[in-house]
Amino acid sequence: MNLNLEHSKTKQNDILSKDYQKKIKEISNRLHNPDHSAGTTWVDYPVCYDKKEFAKVQKLAKHISETSDALLVVGIGGSYLGAKAGIDMLANAKSKLEIVFAGISFDYSDLAQKLDNLKNKDVTVNVVSKSGTTVEILSTLSIVEKFLKNKYKGDYKDRLIFTTDKNKGYLRQRATQDGIETLTVPDSMGGRFSVLSSVGLLPFACAGINVKKIMEGATAAYKELSTDVVADNPAYKYAIYRHLVNKKQGRKIELFTSFNLKLSSFGAWLQQLFDESEGKDGKGLFVAPLTYSTDLHSVGQFIQQGTPIIAETFIKVNNPEKNVTLSNIPLDSPIKFLDGKSMDEINNAALNGTIQAHKDAGVPITIIEIDEINEFNFGYLVYFFELACSASAYLLGVNPFDQPGVEQYKSYMKELLKK
Ligand code: PA5
Repeated sequence: MNLNLEHSKTKQNDILSKDYQKKIKEISNRLHNPDHSAGTTWVDYPVCYDKKEFAKVQKLAKHISETSDALLVVGIGGSYLGAKAGIDMLANAKSKLEIVFAGISFDYSDLAQKLDNLKNKDVTVNVVSKSGTTVEILSTLSIVEKFLKNKYKGDYKDRLIFTTDKNKGYLRQRATQDGIETLTVPDSMGGRFSVLSSVGLLPFACAGINVKKIMEGATAAYKELSTDVVADNPAYKYAIYRHLVNKKQGRKIELFTSFNLKLSSFGAWLQQLFDESEGKDGKGLFVAPLTYSTDLHSVGQFIQQGTPIIAETFIKVNNPEKNVTLSNIPLDSPIKFLDGKSMDEINNAALNGTIQAHKDAGVPITIIEIDEINEFNFGYLVYFFELACSASAYLLGVNPFDQPGVEQYKSYMKELLKK
């Protein structure tokens, strides 16, 4: 992975200033605290993860793929977005197991459609909720349990796996009471930081994704990004850049963009990671994911000439999975000039042209490059962004590991439903 800040409109001297170096040293000490307080279990997780749990995930995945046609994952927010990001980036077309996500809203029409599509298939349901109390999840479970009961009668509980807290919450209680299989969300690890735990690993393994390689990528990132010397740590450099672009250049929005459709869901995970971690006390750079060139045809105009509040971070993939060369384009075609060019060359020209145009418009641009989309790079990127995001939030003076604002809608909703 390479971080390119050449077009970021930020001076290297500012990023490497003594003041930021001092702050980063303090932040690094907070993050690398050995007692994992305040939600930091993810920090050394790539080297400290529970090997027994990891083996259990693989065993369960093998059993599920032998007994099911589909895995229905019921989760929301951090208990869903990381898994979806990994599946969309890495899922192996050869895997016979279909992964379906539910519990992501109260829209019953969507759930009914999904269950209808599964009615003639063998299904295992993985309910993922750290708290075990999330209303979207428990209401979906109540419907899905009826679906399973109807299909598998007395054996339906064998089709359920709960991924939840070790001790607390309704799901843990139910699992103990009814002998339902469980996986554990580690203590002091918030949803949006839990993708490398069983939360993401079970769906990944079921989709035929090599979870060992994901952990190898995360481990490499952990090792390379453990230094508190800013000059040697791209995650901290990027966090400082975000702070400067917000404070000094007045940018309010960071667009995560990619020219690779497989990264769209990764952008949605990044959106949650940054927005839920940073958006507190009237602070934060609002993150929104876009996929180009699709979204250039809808929001490109605003980026180019609208209110100057946007910074842009491109995730660039250097080698595409598949490529093709255009040939035999008719002489009178408006794209005759593309004859002999590959789709990857065209995609790259679109990327470089966009960077040039947005740079001309004064948009600060960061480029994060990976050689290719693979398991190792996914694990690496997840860790890189978790670290950068945490440092970025601490630089703003907010706690990256809580989400007090999310509770408000839930309590109003409950009040309305109790009337
Ligand atoms: O990142 C977070 O902590 C949240 O987005 C949670 O993952 C989300 O609210 C779902 O919570 P739970 O896993 O407790 O059902």
